[in-house]
Amino acid sequence: MKFVKFGLLLCAAMLSMMATVGSTPVQAQKALIIGFSQIGSESGWRSSETASIKAEALKRGITLKFDDAQQKQENQIKAVRSFIAQGVDGILLAPVVETGWDAVLKEALDAKIPVVLVDRGVSADPSLYLTKVASDFVHEGRLAGSWLAQRTNGICNIVEIQGTVGSSAAIDRQKGFADVLTLFPGMKIIRTQSGDFTRTGGKTVMEAFLKAENGGKNICAVWAHNDDMVLGAIQAIKDAGLKPGKDILTISVDSVPDIFKAMADGEANATVELSPDLGVPAFDAIIASKAGKDVPKWIVSTSPMHFPDTAAAEYARRTAGAATAVATAAK
Ligand code: AHR
Repeated sequence: MKFVKFGLLLCAAMLSMMATVGSTPVQAQKALIIGFSQIGSESGWRSSETASIKAEALKRGITLKFDDAQQKQENQIKAVRSFIAQGVDGILLAPVVETGWDAVLKEALDAKIPVVLVDRGVSADPSLYLTKVASDFVHEGRLAGSWLAQRTNGICNIVEIQGTVGSSAAIDRQKGFADVLTLFPGMKIIRTQSGDFTRTGGKTVMEAFLKAENGGKNICAVWAHNDDMVLGAIQAIKDAGLKPGKDILTISVDSVPDIFKAMADGEANATVELSPDLGVPAFDAIIASKAGKDVPKWIVSTSPMHFPDTAAAEYARRTAGAATAVATAAK
């Protein structure tokens, strides 16, 4: 009897708790479980993106199931299928390449699990995913090309270090840059090769370009699809006895802290910024769609450019948090 009374009291307490939160059912406030299939950690930018998304999930009390695909599309497809099988509330997918996603996106759609593409795009029909949270890579390429055209008065032999073959970042940045070159007959891409978005890849490719181009005397600028590759190229240029930023100009994308250091040291000339903070808009989109709200198909982040004049200050600002973290950890 005592036990029955206790049970009734418990029910009453629970009912009054529900009343204090108004009409919102308690179940609606359950923490979200989101799967995140990340490409890997090929660049400084990629590591920042991972850290930023994990931090945002933690801040919101979201359980993030993280999978590192080690640059392999098959691993990403496997991860997405496993997220579907686990019945997650949403999936973030940073697709390593553009093609080959239709089947797995359709499986997520059929399971009513919204998929948000983060940073890179796919060639699949947009109806198969909720939204894409990314910058405009074609625009980034155009900004880079326009800056170089202005800096060289439209006369320049350029070597290009491409990102991962088949990735939307590489395809679209290359296209945007090439669009500008059609307006300047004196600007030519004399060599182009992929450095896979890595620093070592950039160095190896630049070494080959320098060798093939008479030690680099014929090269006016290096255009790399990300900062890490240009940082590798800078090392190769120095090893060849030339001055990066002077003998050979540099232009790249991302705005990682190290490129600001290189610009402050006079070894790099310009960078287009790609924001790594994609967790806020990506989680917002999933939450909005769960609430039945409309979400645009492309949530575009901006692409400001940075130059040597502000590089020292930007480097200090962008590394201040890291320095504080190191100092705190050392205490
Ligand atoms: O998809 C974005 C690109 O991928 C970044 O520019 C590059 O650094 C990364 O690895």
